[in-house]
Amino acid sequence: MSYKANFRVWRGDVDSGELRDYTVEVNEGEVVLDIIHRLQATQTPDLAVRWNCKAGKCGSCSAEINGRPRLLCMTRMSTFTPEETITVTPMRTFPVVRDLVTDVSFNYAKARQIPSFTPPPELKAGEYRMQQVDVERSQEFRKCIECYLCQNTCHVIRDFEDNKPAFSGPRYLMRIAELDMHPLDVADRQKAAQDEHGLGYCNITKCCTDVCPEHIKITDNALIPMKERVADRKYDPLVWLGNKIRRR
Ligand code: SF4
Ligand code: F3S
Ligand code: FES
Repeated sequence: MSYKANFRVWRGDVDSGELRDYTVEVNEGEVVLDIIHRLQATQTPDLAVRWNCKAGKCGSCSAEINGRPRLLCMTRMSTFTPEETITVTPMRTFPVVRDLVTDVSFNYAKARQIPSFTPPPELKAGEYRMQQVDVERSQEFRKCIECYLCQNTCHVIRDFEDNKPAFSGPRYLMRIAELDMHPLDVADRQKAAQDEHGLGYCNITKCCTDVCPEHIKITDNALIPMKERVADRKYDPLVWLGNKIRRR
């Protein structure tokens, strides 16, 4: 069944913009990205949108549909009634480049601040051994497609631009947790999470988890365990004494 849908799409650039109304054909089985492509093909050849795989795996097509952060390619048109007006806007937390495309370099900068996997210096490549249970624990975090929808949603930076320098966001706090849980990693991830990446800013609202297209339990499996590890270290008298002695 085909029908005409009412779309409202944000058009503009870094200086200014507005919502513009369009009527576009929809066919059975289509997703929002199909409609954006039809809009480009038939009415607005200059409409900017970032996408790559159309399979929910490249993480490029992140935007907001009716105010909710989503992947354009994984949102079926059948989610909406034919009468509904569908509003598509760029991710709000990052600066707009043009139309639906945002500048997500904030995330690349935060990623670069995290030292990579650091095994003990005496261990040579090929000598790494770990238990299957430790592999499985981090497996979930490796499903991340870097769509940045969690980063876009977290109110710590969505509503408070000033927090950006001090807070790396759920995606990168999860990366730090993954490394901290790695039995062979010897870098001090806990201190860095707290002091450099703003773990304390997270008040476990779980909005990041709610929007993750990979259904990663970011809050329950990465952020809360990381907070517990940091708290143990802070309040455990033996850890405290150990730190004191080491600092001398
Ligand atoms: Fe996207 Fe989920 Fe990765 Fe966040 S954790 S960047 S929401 S895939
Ligand atoms: Fe933000 Fe997720 Fe924490 S939304 S406050 S990082 S639980
Ligand atoms: Fe790749 Fe949507 S186009 S995730």
